[in-house]
Amino acid sequence: MPQDSPSSQDWWQYPPWLQQVAERAKGLKVGGNLIYRRATASTNDDVRQLALKGAPEGLVVLADEQTHGRGRLGRPWLAPAESSLLLSVLFRHPLPMSETAQLTMLVGLAALESIEVTLGLRCALKWPNDVMLGDRKLGGILAETEAWGHRLRWAVVGLGLNVNVDFSSYPELQSVATSLREATGEEVDRGELLLALLRALSRRYAQLVDGASPVEEWQSRLCTLGRRVTVESSNERFSGTADFVTPEGSLFVRLDDGTRREVLAGDVKLRSQLE
Ligand code: BTN
Repeated sequence: MPQDSPSSQDWWQYPPWLQQVAERAKGLKVGGNLIYRRATASTNDDVRQLALKGAPEGLVVLADEQTHGRGRLGRPWLAPAESSLLLSVLFRHPLPMSETAQLTMLVGLAALESIEVTLGLRCALKWPNDVMLGDRKLGGILAETEAWGHRLRWAVVGLGLNVNVDFSSYPELQSVATSLREATGEEVDRGELLLALLRALSRRYAQLVDGASPVEEWQSRLCTLGRRVTVESSNERFSGTADFVTPEGSLFVRLDDGTRREVLAGDVKLRSQLE
């Protein structure tokens, strides 16, 4: 790998909360190479640039602040400095392109597992991959891929998790978003959560490389199915009942006239979020 694209850092380059985590993550399949940035535009952009320079899979870039954090559907992803886990992972397993949604599923499931292991809170996923606590959003995932023919060349999967965000300063978001601090009533240790996440990701990614699919578990953790939803995509909006998801990750919605629509990408609002 070129000199200007470090695959990991020395312990003194990490902030105190990350030093032990980086030490304990050494050797993990995901996060064994951990790059920290105090502030950056977007960790997804950082990992993409490193991917283009040949960085190895499993590389994680984590930032305490993003100046141009990106969400799905071209939205910004905002998080006060040092309040969240903001990170992106590089995957290189040459999956068929039709199966790359499995990497996003894997990151969503690992996020749920890390929250459960460290805080005992059971969260869910809202299609396609929002991390939810009750009906409020706790985190989001943004995947960007590049193909080599019909197979994956690399994927960057970014996760933003609201750990210690105080939403009382954002009244417009209070009814739709939440943080782990709000849920537990206490400041949450980001280091402990991160280590649990990297361990869960490493184990789950090794299983995927061995041919095990996360699809069934992902389906079982979706809070969307069976619920009344409104789908919003770039050019339309319609309501119905979320019926089922396919192994490729698309959602089928049953409309009131009995017909079904397949949704490949878009946003889904649950009925309670519309009221
Ligand atoms: C969503 O819209 O729900 C997805 C949000 C993804 C945000 C994360 S934060 C770390 C990574 N870097 C980015 O710019 N976006 C992702």
